[in-house]
Amino acid sequence: MNELNFFETVSRRRSIRSFQLKPVEDEKIFKILETVNLAPSAGNLQAYEIVLVRDEERKKALAEAAWAQWFIAEAPVVFVVCANKRRSAVRYGSRGENLYSINDASIAAAYLELAAAALGLGSCWVGAFRDEMVSKVIEAPSHIRPIAIIPVGYPAESPIRPRRRGFKDFLHSEKIRAGV
Ligand SMILES: Cc1cc2nc3c(=O)[nH]c(=O)nc-3n(C[C@H](O)[C@H](O)[C@H](O)COP(=O)(O)O)c2cc1C
Repeated sequence: MNELNFFETVSRRRSIRSFQLKPVEDEKIFKILETVNLAPSAGNLQAYEIVLVRDEERKKALAEAAWAQWFIAEAPVVFVVCANKRRSAVRYGSRGENLYSINDASIAAAYLELAAAALGLGSCWVGAFRDEMVSKVIEAPSHIRPIAIIPVGYPAESPIRPRRRGFKDFLHSEKIRAGV
C-alpha cells in the first residue's frame, strides 16, 4: 500500500462524487476501520455505529434517501456512520444523547475520510438525506441516528480544491468579532 503522510493526506483529500468500478480491497477497508477505532470520543465510549453497505439495491435506496444523489450508488462501498445516542446517554445524560454521540460519530467520519484518502481512495461526506428513509434502509432503531453517508471507491475525477475562508477569517482574538 502506498500511504501518504498526514499533511499530504489532509491537503490532497477532496470530496469525490464519481467512482471507478474497481472494487476496494478488504485490506483497505480494514485499515480504514482500524483508523476510525483510534479516534477520540467522549469518555472513550465510541458512541457510534458504522454500517458497511455493498448491496446494489441498498446503495440505490441510500442514494434515493439522499435526495437522488446517485453517485452514492456508484461507489463500490458505502459507509453509513451513525451516532449511538443511548451509548453516550447512559453516562452523560442529555449532553451525551444530543451532543457527544454526534461529536463521536462526526470525528469517526472525519477519520474515515482521511484514512480513505491516505490509501488513495476517494470519498464524500453526504449529510443531505431523509433521516427516516436512511434509518429504514439500514434497519436502525430509534436511538441510532445516521449522521453521514460516505461512499468510498477509487476516484474517477480529480476536482480542484474549493476555496476556503482562511484562518484570519475564522480565527478570533480573545473574543468573537462583531458581525460574524
Ligand atoms: C456535514 C457535511 C455535509 C455534507 N453534505 C454533502 C452532501 O449532501 N452532498 C455532497 O455532494 N457533498 C456534501 N458534503 C461535502 C462538501 O460539499 C465538501 O466537503 C465541501 O464542498 C468542501 O469540499 P472538499 O471536501 O472537496 O474539500 C458535506 C460535507 C459535510 C462536512
